Amino acid sequence: MDYCHLLPLGAVLAAAAFVSAQSAPALKDAYKSDFYIGVAIGDTQIGGEDQRGDALIDSQFNSISPENALKWEEVHPQPDKYDFRMADQYVAFGEQHHMFIVGHTLIWERQVPAWVFHDAKGNLLGRDALLARMRDHIDTVVGRYKGRIQSWDVVNEALNEDGTLRPSLWFKIIGPDYIEKAFQYAHEADPAAQLTYNDYNLENPAKCKGAVALVKKLQAEGIPINAVGIQGHLRLDSPTPEQEDAAISAFAALGVKVAITELDIDVLPSAGYGPTADVSLRVRQDPKLNPYVNGLPDSVQQQLADRYAAFFRVFLKHRGALSRVTFWGVTDADSWLNDWPVKGRTSYPLLFDRSGQPKPAFQGILRVASEK
Ligand code: XIL
Repeated sequence: MDYCHLLPLGAVLAAAAFVSAQSAPALKDAYKSDFYIGVAIGDTQIGGEDQRGDALIDSQFNSISPENALKWEEVHPQPDKYDFRMADQYVAFGEQHHMFIVGHTLIWERQVPAWVFHDAKGNLLGRDALLARMRDHIDTVVGRYKGRIQSWDVVNEALNEDGTLRPSLWFKIIGPDYIEKAFQYAHEADPAAQLTYNDYNLENPAKCKGAVALVKKLQAEGIPINAVGIQGHLRLDSPTPEQEDAAISAFAALGVKVAITELDIDVLPSAGYGPTADVSLRVRQDPKLNPYVNGLPDSVQQQLADRYAAFFRVFLKHRGALSRVTFWGVTDADSWLNDWPVKGRTSYPLLFDRSGQPKPAFQGILRVASEK
């Protein structure tokens, strides 16, 4: 035997690990026949400055959402000024990588400039004037990307936790039919686009009921609504997979598609607030709220992996109704949960770690796909 050609054991093992990492199926391929696997992308990824992030986006995902690039304050900062520089690059990025491209979001009470609701003298607008502004915005933004953005989050976060409509300025000035108007205008601007109502905590039964009533009302009025987006900002301890299952079933029964639009699982302490993803929430910094600055303990890492796996089992069960599952960020370093609701925390809610390596949660989700 020619022992000279045997590699040292360490080298053999290292080579085997490399081969297995390379040959692990991509998420988008593992779920190809089920639903799109999407990811929210930020300006550095859109602009090509985060090459490692772009490589992950390209290899693992087949749908993108803009983390901020299409929000009102970004594309329409002043009454007569639209700024599409980042949004244009976002859509071009999606086309270049053959992605299912999502538009997020048209009508929301957050990340919208104050001028939208006021006249030049600073007085609140009336219903007709605000509707005209809404129509101009939707026509301009949806029209610009007609046939290129496949799905729009038309209205974001219109519901309170009890299922009633939030008293946003949209609601107060226009009335409850601001939602119908937004869907109507979006449909007129691009009749082929999928139109979605998007919200967080739809796993909460009262809020879920409110959303079901809203969708039924729109359907009864002949308003074109195609999908409900369950944001999916989850925590380690809530909601339960059964609640997720119930929410997806409730919307699927209405004959609309369901999308999980902003998935992440927060492992950090909640600082006393209930389940929420309200971007206006602010909590003061406190070292007790930031326990994993030096790394995530293995036990929590494993809990995160198990929880992702449990939710993906629910998603797979509903593969006929689910059109997509989108993660809200590429790596843990990108997550909005590093700065919300407490600034400057070290958060671990996603599938790739701060150096871009897949976490046990990634393997857990792949394992669920292999159980099919
Ligand atoms: C977040 C972004 O990730 C942050 O970068 C930004 O500062 C605030 O908004 N629900 C939504 C998203 O619909 O638009 C929010 O995104 C997260 C909660």
